[in-house]
Amino acid sequence: MPKEIIKNVSGEVKSGQMLAIMGASGAGKTTLLNVLTARNPLKLRVKGVVLLNGQAVSAETMASLSSYIEQHDLFHPFLTVREHLVFQVLVV
Ligand SMILES: Nc1ncnc2c1ncn2[C@@H]1O[C@H](COP(=O)(O)OP(=O)(O)OP(=O)(O)O)[C@@H](O)[C@H]1O
Ligand SMILES: [Mg+2]
Repeated sequence: MPKEIIKNVSGEVKSGQMLAIMGASGAGKTTLLNVLTARNPLKLRVKGVVLLNGQAVSAETMASLSSYIEQHDLFHPFLTVREHLVFQVLVV
């Protein structure tokens, strides 16, 4: 039986809004962000739709339009916040 990591999650964020996704360790924050940004490094089975301006978008388009910085163990002490963002956009 497959393990369900996140289930029945839906939401909408409008332009200009800021959203915080909060939850205890293991709640599924990273999994949700990976789904939303079309990252699936472990090739997990994903069902559902992610829309941008009401339109379905390809993983390539989502990757070109969005990024996020993962947890502290991926931070580099010698980079600024801006450099982290640029690095994530260019490399991931
Ligand atoms: N590939 C996987 N196979 C099995 N279980 C997984 C897998 N990836 C994540 N999980 C489990 O799914 C749950 C959610 O994990 P996730 O990493 O998304 O949580 P998180 O909210 O980001 O936690 P943290 O705050 O510690 O970063 C956890 O119970 C985790 O062990
Ligand atoms: Mg996490």
